Amino acid sequence: MMSATSPLSQALRWKKHFAHKIVWITGASSGIGEQLAGMLSSLGARLILSARSAPGLERVRNNLPHPEHARILPLDLEQLDTLPARAAAAESLFGPIDILINNAGLAVRDYILNTTFDIDQKLMKINYFGPMIITKAVLKRMVERGQGQIVAVSSLSAKYGVPRTAAYAASKHALQGFFECLRTEITMPGISFTIIIPGIIKTDITAHALMGDGSRHGVVEQSFREGYPLEKAAFKIIKAIALKKEEQFVGGKEGFTLWIYRLSPYFFTRFIRNHPLKKFRRLMQWLKGGKKLSPQRQ
Ligand SMILES: NC(=O)c1ccc[n+]([C@@H]2O[C@H](COP(=O)([O-])OP(=O)(O)OC[C@H]3O[C@@H](n4cnc5c(N)ncnc54)[C@H](OP(=O)(O)O)[C@@H]3O)[C@@H](O)[C@H]2O)c1
Repeated sequence: MMSATSPLSQALRWKKHFAHKIVWITGASSGIGEQLAGMLSSLGARLILSARSAPGLERVRNNLPHPEHARILPLDLEQLDTLPARAAAAESLFGPIDILINNAGLAVRDYILNTTFDIDQKLMKINYFGPMIITKAVLKRMVERGQGQIVAVSSLSAKYGVPRTAAYAASKHALQGFFECLRTEITMPGISFTIIIPGIIKTDITAHALMGDGSRHGVVEQSFREGYPLEKAAFKIIKAIALKKEEQFVGGKEGFTLWIYRLSPYFFTRFIRNHPLKKFRRLMQWLKGGKKLSPQRQ
């Protein structure tokens, strides 16, 4: 039975915003996208689920509370030429898109000098050019209708650089910049843009990530195994969309890094440059320890 405090029961509060809306989610075959699909189906949305893997999308669709209100639309964001036609196909399934969630993404886990130009380009296509093409296609219809919402799932890597993520960070910086410009250009009251900044969410993103030579990283890193719960993350994303937030961090204590970076980019860059996740874990342990010590000090 669903508890009253579960993320899903809290999300039901936003049902009015999503019921009968046509929501296109990219990257719906796993992780954050899969979780969003499940919750949005419970909230009565009509869903279009996209990713490369058709069997993966079928599995997600079959597990939805209302599979009859969902369609799958396989696509590969790297195949840029195919995307305008995919966007037209998406609009032909239920009608014009009300909410587009650009969630699909691929990470890289390697040093700049080990990363081939092919991989740099691949990341830019999947994380930036692909979502940009889809966004432009869907946005045209939204502008004609004077309504719609577009979401970009960005990253902390869109805010600052850490080692072994350059191709990914560059692509997420580009996505972030594109969406920041969009909201200065398209100012119609019925159209809004939400940028989601996930922290470290408990998904297999690091296992799916590529090494610089194109091979699979293949390992779910410890910080992600112990990451922010997926269901809570999906709820926070849904809440941010319902409230039409311009930007929302979603995650745990790693959100602190945004403040540290803003306060002192110089200090932060030196702190983060070697083994950032290990250092971050140590900082968190120290902060937790600090909290425990304070009552004894009084
Ligand atoms: N988990 C985190 O801590 C975290 C942190 C910051 C940002 N994010 C962002 O959150 C989003 C979701 O990530 P996740 O954690 O849920 O990872 P995930 O489980 O690896 O999901 C990635 C999704 O993107 C799809 N995808 C990958 N390449 C694609 C391509 N060429 N064309 C179309 N779809 C493609 C994958 O499906 P197929 O393989 O079937 O194509 C999958 O559905 C990503 O944009 C990621 O950058 C996640």
